[in-house]
Amino acid sequence: PEAITVGELANRMAERVADVVKFLMRNGIMATTNQSIDADTAQLVVEEFGHRVVRVSDADVEQVIDTVVDKAEDLSPRPPIVTIMGHVDHGKTSLLDAIRKANVVSAEAGGITQHIGAYQVTTDSGAVLTFLDTPGHAAFTSMRARGAQVTDIVVLVVAADDAVKPQTVEAISHARAANVPMIVAINKIDKYEANPQKVRTDLLQYEVVVEEMGGDVQTVELSAKTGQGIDTLLEAIALQAEILELQANPNRAAHGAVIEAKLDVGRGPVATVLVQNGTLRQGDIFVVGQTWGKVRALVNDQGERVTEAAPSVPVEVLGLNGTPSAGDVLNVVETEQQAREIADYRAQVAKDKRTAAGTATLEQLMARAK
Ligand code: GTP
Ligand code: MG
Repeated sequence: PEAITVGELANRMAERVADVVKFLMRNGIMATTNQSIDADTAQLVVEEFGHRVVRVSDADVEQVIDTVVDKAEDLSPRPPIVTIMGHVDHGKTSLLDAIRKANVVSAEAGGITQHIGAYQVTTDSGAVLTFLDTPGHAAFTSMRARGAQVTDIVVLVVAADDAVKPQTVEAISHARAANVPMIVAINKIDKYEANPQKVRTDLLQYEVVVEEMGGDVQTVELSAKTGQGIDTLLEAIALQAEILELQANPNRAAHGAVIEAKLDVGRGPVATVLVQNGTLRQGDIFVVGQTWGKVRALVNDQGERVTEAAPSVPVEVLGLNGTPSAGDVLNVVETEQQAREIADYRAQVAKDKRTAAGTATLEQLMARAK
């Protein structure tokens, strides 16, 4: 069977459904008792609850990932992961650049370094924030669909000279679907035509009630062009993050989500991974989607080699045997054999699915030909 309902899975493990649902939610999957989850997800659930998986019927995948459930005393605060969304041309890229520039400590040799799709900044008050380069709404949705919820906070950029537009509304619904808080960055405040009040009243129509109107959504007026208000935005994010009390256990085998991946001419397959729990280290063996590998090198957002990456840290991972997809989950496992078996198994399942889809199409074609 390719899928199992949450209820059935809990039953078979003799665990409480509520606990399984909670674990899934923590991993960004919203599923109720009667909803089905796929075999790979089910496997992770089973491992998380400390059971040994033997998928003899599916394949000879037999492995144990880290079975430890984090205890409260093992958890420590982690930086928030922030995604910037908004309507076309409202200034998402400019804002990301402004935040980054405001935080480039020195323009020493190399200056602003290569771009890895995510970066961290430190606010004046010392809070560390992780920003994801706006992946575009389609990518955001597909990553979520694959169960990789990587955002804790959405910054909604709305241009003060244009107010709420279709993609603003879309972004609002993405933030809602992901169940993450939103901060509204009212951008382009330097412009003569800027009308921040219109932004606030427009938002009311979509049930986004900002603080100035008695709600709880923070807004920050800023200009990505002049840099005005950027610091205020960073502190607003830090404040929001404090409320969320985000935590992770740095002392366990890592898992994380692929933000982007490419085949680099010089370095081979490279995946930018956002570590979500545990610490990823050089030498770790991992499986990620249908690929696997052993961490040959880790490169941080400054383009520097590092030996490890803690929770909420984005890093480039080298040492993969293939190029994974954005949204794939990376799991550290104990042996190369386990990693290879899981990757092979997943590749086989995907291939079977493609074949099945192909057959259906052929049948449909023949039916139509009759
Ligand atoms: P897409 O990626 O195409 O959706 O656009 P975007 O949201 O990333 O907007 P981008 O940062 O590319 O900015 C769009 C235009 O607005 C550019 O010409 C920017 O220079 C301009 N712009 C961005 N922020 C500001 C601002 O604060 N003030 C002014 N005056 N112009 C801005
Ligand atoms: Mg852009």
